[in-house]
Amino acid sequence: MNLKNKTALVTGGNSGLGFEIVKQLVKNKCKVIILGKDGKKVKAAKKKLKSSLVSTLTCNLQDFSQIEQAVKKTKNIDILINCAGIIAYQPLEIHDPQNIKDIVEVNLLGTIYMTRAILPKMKKKNSGTIINISSTSGLMTGGHPNESVYIASKHGVTGFTHALKKEIDAEKSNINILGFYPGGMNTRLFSKSGLDQDTSKFMDPAEIAKIIIFILERPDSIKMDHVLVNRDKNL
Ligand SMILES: NC(=O)c1ccc[n+]([C@@H]2O[C@H](COP(=O)([O-])OP(=O)(O)OC[C@H]3O[C@@H](n4cnc5c(N)ncnc54)[C@H](OP(=O)(O)O)[C@@H]3O)[C@@H](O)[C@H]2O)c1
Repeated sequence: MNLKNKTALVTGGNSGLGFEIVKQLVKNKCKVIILGKDGKKVKAAKKKLKSSLVSTLTCNLQDFSQIEQAVKKTKNIDILINCAGIIAYQPLEIHDPQNIKDIVEVNLLGTIYMTRAILPKMKKKNSGTIINISSTSGLMTGGHPNESVYIASKHGVTGFTHALKKEIDAEKSNINILGFYPGGMNTRLFSKSGLDQDTSKFMDPAEIAKIIIFILERPDSIKMDHVLVNRDKNL
């Protein structure tokens, strides 16, 4: 796909991997809508990019009506990147139930809600690409102790992506659904959850964003369904 003049909506586009994806999309002349829950942060991200290609939407992905209102303000979406996410490290027996709910709502429901809101627009024009950012924690081989709720939410994203892909493919439409499964990246995801983890040897989200661009720009004849990227833990 040639990204020039296309429109992409990136959830969690004000921070971490999402922000790096936005930067790369703009570099490739794609119009980008940054969607985040904090209006100030979303506007600050737009300001940093200094580009007329960038617009913003503020909404909490935990609330479908807010998503619907936000999506109503958009004209055309060619690419949806479901990137927003939160994490927590807690043994389950002491994990705060509200925080459990938040993780499942942002990571899993947020991805399903956003896709539910945008898919009708893509179906109408019979084209579009949806990339769901799951995690290696969303695969049977991934995950760490004390991440059970995060892992469950990401397995949900993985299952949703597989199932929706079957549903869309059965309709023989031109909509592409892709699951992306990164290992550890050097972002503020962990510190925001209160975890004191050295992430300096984790993957650079700027490099991962370039892989996302490669995926989007590949020729239509090359099918990609699920892409896993992980760091070399021997380094
Ligand atoms: N970092 C890793 O090692 C790693 C590994 C595998 C997968 N992932 C996945 O990669 C994705 C991006 O994470 P990241 O590492 O880039 O973390 P990040 O920098 O914390 O970015 C997460 C983004 O999600 C937004 N967000 C959180 N709750 C939201 C809500 N209720 N509504 C709307 N937006 C919300 C955040 O907004 P605020 O800035 O306002 O909080 C932020 O923009 C996540 O899905 C994460 O699970 C990360």
